[in-house]
Amino acid sequence: MIVNGVGHPTTRDHRRLLSDYLRHDCGLTGTHVGCEHGVCGCCTVLLDGAPVRSCLMLAVQAEGHEVTTIEGLAADGAALHPVQQAFHEMHGLQCGFCTPGFVLSVVGLLNQHPDPTAEQIDEGISGNLCRCTGYASIRRAVKRAAELSR
Ligand code: FES
Ligand code: FES
Repeated sequence: MIVNGVGHPTTRDHRRLLSDYLRHDCGLTGTHVGCEHGVCGCCTVLLDGAPVRSCLMLAVQAEGHEVTTIEGLAADGAALHPVQQAFHEMHGLQCGFCTPGFVLSVVGLLNQHPDPTAEQIDEGISGNLCRCTGYASIRRAVKRAAELSR
């Protein structure tokens, strides 16, 4: 599969979760793992540009597809991706554990709705849980990200 633009070898363990493959085989530990049963959203990555929960997918299911993790949004030392910049500006994070999943969900949301309504924002982030921020600042960050992306 292609991960952040780089080809990666097939796993021989057909039961390996995509989240474990990314973290342990690719060393991309920005993909966080919380609940491991599809509830918290912190393992969210993009599969061909659409958000998916990597704890609910097998790595072999991603073969032939392009996966984007949080490490793939901006190179080290480069400018932040607009969604990352917006979370920074609007204080859309505190501990940061949920943040990679939120950021990738928002990238997917803005791919689909470049100027999202309040309802679309709520729906777009409804699969991600945050224990710290209370969501108001995350909603503001999504609006700001839409502005920065224009
Ligand atoms: S770790 Fe995948 S949804 Fe929680
Ligand atoms: S910033 Fe701490 S869980 Fe979201």
